Amino acid sequence: MAASDSNTSIIFLYIFLVVLLLQTQISNSLTCSSQKLSKNKLYKQCSDLPKLDSYLHWTYDSSKSSLDIAFIAPPAKPDGWIAWAINPTSTGMVGSQTLVAYKQSDGSMTVKTYNITSYKDVLLGKIDFQVSKMEAEYVDGVIKMYASIVLPPTYGKVVNHVWQVGPSLKNENGDLNVHGFAADNINSVGKLDLMSGSAGGSSGGGGSTSTTSTSSGSAKSGGISSKLKKKNIHGVLNAVSWGMLFPIGAVIARYLRVFEAADPAWFYLHVFCQLSGYAIGVAGWATGLQLGKQAQGFGNTLHRNIGITLFTFATLQVITPPTIFFSFRDQHLMRSDFLTLIV
Ligand SMILES: *[C@@H]1O[C@H](CO)[C@@H](O)[C@H](O)[C@H]1NC(C)=O
Repeated sequence: MAASDSNTSIIFLYIFLVVLLLQTQISNSLTCSSQKLSKNKLYKQCSDLPKLDSYLHWTYDSSKSSLDIAFIAPPAKPDGWIAWAINPTSTGMVGSQTLVAYKQSDGSMTVKTYNITSYKDVLLGKIDFQVSKMEAEYVDGVIKMYASIVLPPTYGKVVNHVWQVGPSLKNENGDLNVHGFAADNINSVGKLDLMSGSAGGSSGGGGSTSTTSTSSGSAKSGGISSKLKKKNIHGVLNAVSWGMLFPIGAVIARYLRVFEAADPAWFYLHVFCQLSGYAIGVAGWATGLQLGKQAQGFGNTLHRNIGITLFTFATLQVITPPTIFFSFRDQHLMRSDFLTLIV
């Protein structure tokens, strides 16, 4: 039957959208404070860098000028490279004292240093500072690069840092093929305050940081950033609205109204679920918009687009008599739908 066919496909479309939304939400909500590093490596501070889905974990000992880092980023292509650098002389790429991690032709991971003296000259070799314990691993499409650095005391406690991801290597010698030139690739620079933990982009916005009170070995997780808190609120509001109230309201309309005894209670329940679901959905949508604004061009576009689609459908469903969408066959109930919504 046409009507029930369209009911079923609308329900499937709905479930599909909600599941997709939840999945992108989960993959998007990973922050540095919840990341696990291998071999129980622990760092005192971490930052969700504002560009290129990258993360920096570090421990700085000012008495020794020593800096242990873990830099995590997805390479632009599976056989690509990731790079993190300190630039002691300038704010961009030129002058960067760079660590690069990539997969070698034998499949093992390596970390190399590059003295970048111009856009053309990315020279594999010695850099300004001592680096040891360089290692890298490739996990689920993401490269994790580790190193211990001794910074020249002249660098101070706030340094310019730069990070980048590239698609591939030119050859076996570690010559890199150039990275992309999207806005994220150009703006992946910032100031890293080794003591306070701030490591955002040059614009000051974006990256959230967290500091753990770890001394030695205890695995306390970092303070929850306000961005993460907002993400959680956004997630809970939307889960209650899209994941509970709307489906319950729909189930009531679809199955409960066939029982004489449930008439007209099912309808009020239905309207209650849809309206409160929608109200909570609006709140969830508002937190989502705020998160989107903060992310400024960076973020999960798929998640945003699904959210917009779902919200548009829901708005239509609430402001239009549901009968138009669901082609209810019951004329009597159709009328009461209309009346109750108007009154
Ligand atoms: C890096 O290159 C610059 C410019 O050629 C040079 O002055 C500097 O000494 C180099 N650094 C190292 C550690 O070799």
